[in-house]
Amino acid sequence: MTYNVRLLLLLLTVVFTSHSLSAQVLNSKTYENGLVVTADKYASEIGKEILMKGGNAVDAAVAVQFALAVTLPRAGNIGGGGFMVVHLANGETAALDFREKAPQKAARDMYIRNGQFKSDLSWEGILAVGVPGTVDGMIKALERYGRMPLDVVIQPAIKLAREGYSLSYSQAEDLNNHKDTFLKYQASSNYFTTGDTTFFKEGDVFVQTDLAETLERVSRFGREGFYSGPVADAIVNEMERYRGLITYRDLRNYESKWREPIVAEYLGYKLHIMPPPSSGSVAIAQILEMIDDYPLAEMGHNSADYVHVLAEAMRRAFADRSYYLGDPDFVDIPIEEMTGESYNDRRVNSFSMDSATASSTLSHGQIQGYSESMETTHFSIIDKDGNAVAVTTTLNGSFGSHVSVTNAGFLLNNEMDDFSAQPGEPNAYGLIGAEANAIEPGKRMLSSMTPTIVTKDGKVDMVLGAAGGPRIITATLQSFLNRAIFGMRAQQATSAARFHHQWLPDVLMPGQFGLSPDTKRLLEAKGHKIFEIPNVGRTHNIFVDQNGNLSAGVDPRGDGWASGY
Ligand code: GLY
Repeated sequence: MTYNVRLLLLLLTVVFTSHSLSAQVLNSKTYENGLVVTADKYASEIGKEILMKGGNAVDAAVAVQFALAVTLPRAGNIGGGGFMVVHLANGETAALDFREKAPQKAARDMYIRNGQFKSDLSWEGILAVGVPGTVDGMIKALERYGRMPLDVVIQPAIKLAREGYSLSYSQAEDLNNHKDTFLKYQASSNYFTTGDTTFFKEGDVFVQTDLAETLERVSRFGREGFYSGPVADAIVNEMERYRGLITYRDLRNYESKWREPIVAEYLGYKLHIMPPPSSGSVAIAQILEMIDDYPLAEMGHNSADYVHVLAEAMRRAFADRSYYLGDPDFVDIPIEEMTGESYNDRRVNSFSMDSATASSTLSHGQIQGYSESMETTHFSIIDKDGNAVAVTTTLNGSFGSHVSVTNAGFLLNNEMDDFSAQPGEPNAYGLIGAEANAIEPGKRMLSSMTPTIVTKDGKVDMVLGAAGGPRIITATLQSFLNRAIFGMRAQQATSAARFHHQWLPDVLMPGQFGLSPDTKRLLEAKGHKIFEIPNVGRTHNIFVDQNGNLSAGVDPRGDGWASGY
């Protein structure tokens, strides 16, 4: 597939995933005890109930993750993976990587047919599926930091799956928009279509009995309830049905992993960010180093100069992302040098305030001694003791591979597309990758998911993160800068117009109506090619004020919801 066709696919992904929205409209309400901000009202309410029953932020996060697997099947999941960043009130921080892994039978040429790279194979259908990590991750998080047992925190999700919930307008539309693809796969057709020529409507009660059974097995048997026994049988049977690669051994051997967050500093704030295989941490740390010397506050929010400085830093960070980043268990990533001052000062040497750098003239920088959905969802939680959790979780594309597991009721991810399936070829988000992110058995694919907890003077100040493929990184960054530089409140910082640059394609992408015509003209005069897109990510944030009061930033670009008390 040519680069332009892949770019078109990227843009269509953006268009198809924008839908009629019913996000909560917030005033400047604050909460004293606990707050849960997610993409969905049911999930936020479940998280709040867990907090009110004495659970901590990790208990609530696990409950929310399982609830989203029921109420947000396009991104919430047990058949996918994600990242969690934890900051405890005692100052301890940790990052949990429950990203999917390539199956042992995966090979770097698995998407090549007759010498041609077939990108559709890594995007839809059984070969797109990585070994799911969510169930192992949730159990590991609960074991280390939770106060409540698994059967208690998973119970609300089981109830919602068994008794059903009322579809919102956009939940019904999401399912209807994917009907043609679900119909290609028997189990998905059974689970996610009406079964006839009719369509789902707002208010329909959506029951998922098989999913309830699967969650019940996880509740009773923990990790074994998913990675072995009847659920593992069902996954392996689905692989056999469509000639997929995941085996019992892949399932048995899957392990989520605790990692050290990357810490970036800016204007007295410390950002604790998910490390690789998340690329967001390295990219944000680099961008903050690159913009450090510019008087951004004076330039003004979203002025042409402000957008230019940030876009040029984004361009350079994404060029580096494409070359250096991958699974740290497989490749050496020169993180310290990449995120350090002198390297990033060198990176902005070619920068001019008057003109955009053509991406074609820019590649990754030279590191000494160094031989690389939209449909993701993010939630933020703080409990009454001040423990904070940021989780970003995904099936990758909307509804992942579109393959569901027969008798087990859940969708499988299409995360294999996040590898550079053919180094040099763009993935569905137009991202180019290199060797560091090439497919290898057992390797994790590079991600843009960027759950972030920001502290100031040792206390949690912001819990941040976003959905939206590579736009996750730039949306999370802008939520942070909106407060750090411009002092915005949570809802303002979350609603504010955003923009995105990812090196290739060489276009500056503001969200729709995000930049005024005269600002765009000034940017075009500098040489930026502007391409407006409906959304630059969807973010669900929490800010903490000096008195410890919590306020929510619910993205008006989605159906997000804040539940606090
Ligand atoms: N699948 C989207 C991401 O991980 O970046």
